[in-house]
Amino acid sequence: MGAGASRANARVCIRVPGKVNLFLAIRGTRPDGYHELVSVMQTVSLHDTVTVEMDTSGVALHPAARRFMKLAFAVEGPEHLSAGDDNLAVKAARALMDRVGLGSTGASSTMNPPLTRLHLAKRIPMAAGMAGGSADAAATLVALNELWEAGLDRYELAEIGAALGADVPFCVSGGTALATGTGTATAKVLTRGVYHWVIGVSDDGLSTPEVFRAFDEVAQPSAVEPDAVLQALRTSDPEALGAALYNDLERATLHLRPELADAKEAMLDAGALGAVVSGSGPTLVALAASRRDAQIIADTVGDLFDRVDVAMSPAGGPEPVSG
Ligand code: C5P
Repeated sequence: MGAGASRANARVCIRVPGKVNLFLAIRGTRPDGYHELVSVMQTVSLHDTVTVEMDTSGVALHPAARRFMKLAFAVEGPEHLSAGDDNLAVKAARALMDRVGLGSTGASSTMNPPLTRLHLAKRIPMAAGMAGGSADAAATLVALNELWEAGLDRYELAEIGAALGADVPFCVSGGTALATGTGTATAKVLTRGVYHWVIGVSDDGLSTPEVFRAFDEVAQPSAVEPDAVLQALRTSDPEALGAALYNDLERATLHLRPELADAKEAMLDAGALGAVVSGSGPTLVALAASRRDAQIIADTVGDLFDRVDVAMSPAGGPEPVSG
């Protein structure tokens, strides 16, 4: 998809999925406080949409003028979704601007600076362990790279993303990956079949640093390996995958939110093949044998969460949509 420099208004719209952690083991703490981990992540069919737009009729076409590029940001989603500079999508936009030398010179009083509009429509639960913020950052990098015809490849975008958050490199590619180090080193994982999920969301999110801190207090690093998860994905075996779901952070999340233990039991009682906290939580994800089973489980546990979604995985990565 070309950014359409000849059009008066160039626009790129990117749909980006959230993720669930099928496996997450904490290996230890680094001197800088970050944790070494091994994780298997897979995207699910809950999406945010990032749209970027730029007036290309006049001054914005000129490379010199682009050094004065301004950014306008708007959001559509929950009330507490930030429309400010602290939003990871804006941080991603500024990081890309720095990298490609746009907007670096500040505004000139004698000219009308070119403007890029960035719009985020949010559906992935926030502060939920589903990498929603990281997905928005990844989609913003992909969208602006296209809009500005910056010509960076996905590897370079992932590199910029790694400085923004540990899950951003994964979100730049999506699909299914094994992540190591702090989570930024990712390798694609062979996966077959489609998996059906029930996603139990709490409106009251958890901050990732808080959960890692709780982990240091109440839990221990582990040596558990992801082999059973990888084998289940390779052989398209939902029963085996359900049994192999694993997350070392779950103890910390349940320590902070004890009521989630009953909600997890309820998902299993309702017929889930397995259930686990995703990432740092508080989202609980349950694997179902079919779409129909997922709906039955969702209906059964609906009262225990603020929101319950039914979703499928894997869900690809950031992709252009007409919007
Ligand atoms: O990289 P990200 O911004 O998502 O990380 C948020 C916080 O989570 C970090 O500041 C750190 O406290 C914690 N974290 C960690 N080890 C990781 C990833 C995140 O301790 N591998």
